[in-house]
Amino acid sequence: MPRNTTVRDYIRTIVDFPKEGIMFRDVTTLFADPRGFRMAVDQMLHPYAGEQIDKVVGLEARGFILGGAIAHQLSVGFVPIRKKGKLPGTTISQDYKLEYGEAIVEIHDDAIQPGEKILVVGDLLATGGTAAAGIKLIERLGGEIISCAFIIDLPDLGGRKILEELGMDVHALCA
Ligand code: PRP
Ligand code: ADE
Repeated sequence: MPRNTTVRDYIRTIVDFPKEGIMFRDVTTLFADPRGFRMAVDQMLHPYAGEQIDKVVGLEARGFILGGAIAHQLSVGFVPIRKKGKLPGTTISQDYKLEYGEAIVEIHDDAIQPGEKILVVGDLLATGGTAAAGIKLIERLGGEIISCAFIIDLPDLGGRKILEELGMDVHALCA
């Protein structure tokens, strides 16, 4: 079997999950591979060498795995943005639409201090709904978003455009 050489090679596509017509990009195969996972984290960090970042904010759920590794590498704190009802403290909320439904995300209202420089991390950018909701939460707390980093950008779904219209710098490793 040929050896995987790029991050994209480690990601599999599951057809019709979680709904008919969705081509679900499954990054668990990337995370499970020692070379693949390291390659993804290293490449996601690459654009930020020398940048001041105070906190990494991860988007549930796979953004926690990546964001935790990236925060550890940067020696900064990690803050989760979670689906509604999961965070125990006082939260602020934001609703949004995604490729296959609607949801509400939350962040602890004391998780970010005004002026802190934030790197947003997710696994995948599709419609941009999840990331845009996260960006709104961070900005409502006064965080300054340095950039948004993803493994995958599905360009046909328009997420990058939405984030760029919000003034965001966006990086993704593959489509
Ligand atoms: C997936 C993915 C992103 C989001 C991207 O998560 O991990 O967070 O969709 O889609 P969008 O750009 O259209 O918002 P999902 O909402 O399926 O939830 P999960 O991580 O809890 O499985
Ligand atoms: N989130 C939204 N669309 C997705 C897709 N096609 N694969 C994985 N996660 C997604």
